[in-house]
Amino acid sequence: MAEPITALLFGAGARGAEAYGSYALANPGQIKFVAVAEPRRTRREKFAHDHGIPADRCYSSWQEALESKRIADVVLNCTQDQMHAESGLAAIAAGYDMLLEKPISHTLKDSIKIVRTADQQGRFLQICHVLRFTDLFQKVKEFLDENRLGQILAISHRENVASWHMAHSYVRGNWRHEQDSSPMILAKCCHDLDLLIWFTGEPVVNLTSFGSLGHFKAENAPQGAPKRCTDGCPVEATCPFFAPAIYIDLVPFKYAISQSSNPIYSLLGSQALKNPRLITAFARVIPPLQELTEYKGWPRSVLCDDPGNERALLKALQEGPYGRCVYHCDNDVVDHQVVDMEFKSGITATLTMQGHSHEEGRTLRIDGSSATLLAKFGFHRSYIEIHDHRTMGIEHIEYPNNVVRAGHGGGDYGLMQDFVNSMQRGNPPTTSARESLESHYLAFAAEESRNGQKQIDMLDFHQESLGLTT
Ligand SMILES: NC(=O)c1ccc[n+]([C@@H]2O[C@H](COP(=O)([O-])OP(=O)(O)OC[C@H]3O[C@@H](n4cnc5c(N)ncnc54)[C@H](O)[C@@H]3O)[C@@H](O)[C@H]2O)c1
Repeated sequence: MAEPITALLFGAGARGAEAYGSYALANPGQIKFVAVAEPRRTRREKFAHDHGIPADRCYSSWQEALESKRIADVVLNCTQDQMHAESGLAAIAAGYDMLLEKPISHTLKDSIKIVRTADQQGRFLQICHVLRFTDLFQKVKEFLDENRLGQILAISHRENVASWHMAHSYVRGNWRHEQDSSPMILAKCCHDLDLLIWFTGEPVVNLTSFGSLGHFKAENAPQGAPKRCTDGCPVEATCPFFAPAIYIDLVPFKYAISQSSNPIYSLLGSQALKNPRLITAFARVIPPLQELTEYKGWPRSVLCDDPGNERALLKALQEGPYGRCVYHCDNDVVDHQVVDMEFKSGITATLTMQGHSHEEGRTLRIDGSSATLLAKFGFHRSYIEIHDHRTMGIEHIEYPNNVVRAGHGGGDYGLMQDFVNSMQRGNPPTTSARESLESHYLAFAAEESRNGQKQIDMLDFHQESLGLTT
């Protein structure tokens, strides 16, 4: 049996520690973290403890980690968007193969540069476009490859961001400000653009985009709303963005669980909403329920280092960014955007990204000459339906809900398995960094279209972007 690959982690945050760290712990024969670079001491020490990393392999930054000679087979780069370029190029220069979180970079120029440099240096580079690794989207691709829909004419894909998630990440949180992170269509939808390219197997030739920040602005603040939810807000009982309801009472999670297609989850979720004290009492004798009552994962884990502790959470809301009124933040990224695309063969596609959804999840409709495919990829329910135009028959496939298959419906683990396979056995990756780059071209073209109110010819856009890197 092949030896596990050894990894150096840059950034032990939500993705590094929770999504990929947990994969290594569950699959010790495949990958082992032998070093970690993370400036936040609590995160660094916890990761080192969980993975048995010695103190002399713990670094307070990726820069410090790269001062040593090469200490692992690969780097997993899970730093924030604007750090990807510098840290990624330095890791490649230091001789590391790399799994790099999306987006490749927050600028097109640096995205091209990283992919090109990895190619030139002969380094393996894979981008975390995890949706390609979900059972559901792989099945969609299989249906298309089998020609089940006939000729594809029109695609309508939606990324429905739950309103509380929009508030968390894109109004109060790390991706709220384009100057410090990325354009929203890149941050949230490079995955979706990647899926569309994969499904059609064709390049986009023309593109237009519209969108704006419509709601999360001071002019929409309820009368008398203070700067923080915890400062006695007059609308706290009705405001969907009241932070203690989201982070302390976990209302959106309990709701999502109550909507599960699994009857046990559904019952627990609705009871947790109606009667939280009862569920807390049961949790004392049924330990798995503590997953809910003492939940420590995302997004709570973003707020503080002790996310299972209500006092620590409350303090974080009183003092940190996540307790701010959503109408009094320093956000500027859009909360709704559409991208209209024409593919080479004439297929038309619309991608809608919007942050005002009652639930989290993607919905997809592909209309072909012989059938229509409908799919939903949601937190509590996922399915595909094929409606045949001739027989009117419907084939329905239900997928285990994502409450159970956490981590993008199994996509996080699927991606890791693919990366490890490539590194351990030399298998070609399911998706190369060069392919991933195509979705970034589309996202940056969408921004140029939206900001400049113009249609983009993608051939010209590609050609112009060559000039960026010379
Ligand atoms: N693939 C996906 O589906 C997906 C989902 C969410 C986020 N992401 C991307 O993953 C990346 C990380 O997101 P996250 O939510 O884990 O963010 P995070 O802020 O939780 O984690 C980033 C970590 O990097 C650390 N860091 C800062 N400076 C550093 C340095 N000099 N050296 C090493 N580490 C440093 C931070 O302290 C932090 O712990 C982002 O680029 C994000 O866009 C991808």
